[in-house]
Amino acid sequence: MNSKKVFTVKIEDTIAVVTFDAVGEVMNTWTDDAFQSFNEVLDSIEREETIKGALFISGKPQTFLAGANLKMVEYMDEKEQRRVGNLFHSSFDRLAALPIPTVAAINGHCLGGGLEFALACTARIAQESKTTIIGLPEVNVGLIPGAGGTQRLPRLIGYPAIDLILTGSFLKARKAYDLNIVDKVIDGDSDLLQESKSFLQDIISGKVALSRPDHDFSRIDEIVEKACQDFLRSTRGRELPAQMAAMKSIREGLKVTLKEGLKIEKEIVRHVSLSKEAKGCINTFFLKTTTDKPKGLMTKGFEPKKLTRAAVLGFGTMGRGITIDILRNTNMQVIVKDIPEALEPGKAFIRKILDGMAAKKKLKTPVDELMNRLTVVADYTDDFRDVDIVVEAVFEDITVKEQVYRELCSVVEDDCLIASNTSSLSIDTMAPFVTHPKRFAGLHFFSPVWMMQLVEIVRGTQTSQATIDNLLNFAAAIRKRPLVCRDNPGFVVNAMLFPYLLNALQYIEEGNSIDKVDGAVTSFGMPVGPIRLTDDVGIDVPYKVFVGMGVKQATLENVVNDGWLGLKKSGKGFFLPDGSVDPKVLPLIAKRETKERTVEEIQEGLLEALVKVARDLLDRNVVDDPRMIDVGMIWGTGFPADRGGPLKWADLTGLSEKLYGNTFY
Ligand code: NAI
Repeated sequence: MNSKKVFTVKIEDTIAVVTFDAVGEVMNTWTDDAFQSFNEVLDSIEREETIKGALFISGKPQTFLAGANLKMVEYMDEKEQRRVGNLFHSSFDRLAALPIPTVAAINGHCLGGGLEFALACTARIAQESKTTIIGLPEVNVGLIPGAGGTQRLPRLIGYPAIDLILTGSFLKARKAYDLNIVDKVIDGDSDLLQESKSFLQDIISGKVALSRPDHDFSRIDEIVEKACQDFLRSTRGRELPAQMAAMKSIREGLKVTLKEGLKIEKEIVRHVSLSKEAKGCINTFFLKTTTDKPKGLMTKGFEPKKLTRAAVLGFGTMGRGITIDILRNTNMQVIVKDIPEALEPGKAFIRKILDGMAAKKKLKTPVDELMNRLTVVADYTDDFRDVDIVVEAVFEDITVKEQVYRELCSVVEDDCLIASNTSSLSIDTMAPFVTHPKRFAGLHFFSPVWMMQLVEIVRGTQTSQATIDNLLNFAAAIRKRPLVCRDNPGFVVNAMLFPYLLNALQYIEEGNSIDKVDGAVTSFGMPVGPIRLTDDVGIDVPYKVFVGMGVKQATLENVVNDGWLGLKKSGKGFFLPDGSVDPKVLPLIAKRETKERTVEEIQEGLLEALVKVARDLLDRNVVDDPRMIDVGMIWGTGFPADRGGPLKWADLTGLSEKLYGNTFY
C-alpha cells in the first residue's frame, strides 16, 4: 500500500518548496507515513543538483507541526522505540546535513518534534498569530525532546534552553525571536510563503548573516544543578523521570560534539519513553483531550437547550463558587437566592475573587459588567419563570432540601433543569421532591469551585438522557471537566477516598507516624496526605460519613468526641499551625497491633484501596468507563498526572493483573 503523501515538493526556479499536510487530520504530526514521504522528499532534493535552497511550510493554516503522534508512543515496546527513535534521528540528521540552506516557515503550533524538525533546518522564520506557539513541551507528556531538541536548542540559544525544556513552556513568535530560536518574525498580515522565499534567497546570496553565537557551556553542571534544585522545590522533592532525564541529556550532551550528544540523547530518550511515568502522562493527556470538550460526550445529534438564565440556591461556600464560574465563563444572567443576611457578604466575596482574577488578566469582561449580570434575592420573584437551569447548594439537610425543591418547583417552568450540588444525599431520595424528576440530577462541584476543574454529573434513576446531555452542555459552558456517573454514596471521587482514608487511619493505629503516612502519599505525588486532607475538610465530615456507612472508626470517633474537628474548623486538629503534628492528638489515636510499614508498603496499600473501590464502582455500573474514574481522581483530588490515574497506574505496575488477572484499560 502506498504511504499517504504528507510532504510534497515543488521546484520553483532553484528553490524547493516543500509543503506538508496530513490530509484529513486536524494537526500535522510525525507518523510513519509522514516520515516516509519526508524522506522521499529529501531523496529528490539530494538528487536535484540545481536546487540551491529548500523551504518547509505547512499546508494547514493553524498548525506547523505539533510533534510526535502520541498514539505511536503510548504502547510501544523496546524494539518499536528503537525503530521510532532511529527514524526521528536519522531523518533530522539527514535534513541537517543537506549541503544547501533550509528554512522552516512557521505559522501555528510548532511543538516538540515539530520544533526539533525546524531546529534541524538552517534557519527559521515565524509569523505572529494567535495560534503560533513554539516550544518543546515533551516533559509534560513524560518524554524528553529526544529528536535532537536537548542538543540543538541549547547549542542555538545557550542556557535559556534549560528552563524552556525543563518547564516545557510555549513561546509566542516574538519571544522566540528575542531568544534567537527563530531568525525572523513577520506580522500576521504578511504573506508567509513569499517572505520565506525571499528570506531563503537572502541566505543563499549571503545577504543576511544568521546570528549563531558560540556559547560557552563551561558552567553547564552548575546551571543544570541549580535548575534541577529549583524544579525539585516545585515538586516537593519528587524527581519526575522525564524532567531529570532531559537535564541529564543536556548536561552530558553539551560536553561533547553534537554528533556524540545526539547519541547520548537517543539512549536517554529510550529509557524515558519506555517508563511507566511516560505512559501514565500520555494517558492523562488523552483523558484531558477527551474531557476538554464535554460537548463531545453528549449524545450524537443532541440539540441542547439554550441557556440564558441560571439560578443558584444558597450563597455559601459552594453557591458563591458556582456563581463565579457561571459569570466569568458565560453570558448568562444569574439569580442567587439565600437569606437576606447572606446576600451582601456573598456579593462582596464574589467581587473580591473576580477582582483578583482581573488583576491577573484572567477575565475577558470587566468585573462591573459581570456583577451587573448578578441579581441576589431573599424571596422567589417572577424572574424565576425565565430561568433555564437551577443549581441548588443549600445546607446539606434533607428536610431543608425537600422544602427548597417544593417551593422551587412552584415557581420555575416544567422544563427548567434542576441540579443538586449535594455531596452526600442521594439523588434518588430527593427526586420525589421535584416535579418532572426526569429533569433532575446531581451536579457535584469541588471546592474552591473556580479552581477545581472537575464536576460529577450524577444520573438518578429517573433522570433523562436529555438532562444529562444538557448538563454536559452546561459543564462545557462553565468550563468544567465532567464525570458522568450514577447515584451512589459519595458518587465517585468521595467514594474512592473513604476506604483510602480508612487504610491510612489503620496504618496510624498500627504505630506508623502521621508524618510517615502523609509523607508516603505526598512523595507518591498527591498534593496532600490523607490525614492533612481530613484535617482541612473538617474531621467530623468523614467521621459522619463512616457512621452513615455503618463503619466504626475508633480514632476519628475519639478525636471528634473530644471536640477536635480540624485546625481550621475548631482550632484543634491533627496539626499545629506550623504544619507539625499536634502531640496532644496522639493519645486519641486508637491502638492496634503494631505493624511498622515501609513507605512503599503504605503507597501500595493505599493504591490497592483505591483500585478495589474502583472495581466495585465498575461492577455496579456506577461508572461505565474506567477512564472516567481516573479523570475524577486526577482533576478532583490531584492524583499525579504522570501516573495516569489510579487505574492506569495499577495496570502499569501489574497490580490490576495481580488482583483481577486483567487490566482496566
Ligand atoms: P454553606 O453552609 O457554606 O452554604 C449553604 C447556604 O445555603 C447558606 O448560605 C444558607 O444560608 C443557604 N440556605 C439554607 N437554606 C436555604 C434556603 N431554603 N434557600 C436558600 N438558601 C438557603 O454550605 P456549602 O458548603 O456551600 O454546601 C452547600 C451544598 O454543597 C451542600 O449540599 C454540600 O453538601 C455541598 N457541597 C459542599 C462542598 C464543600 O466543600 N463545602 C463540596 C461539594 C458539595
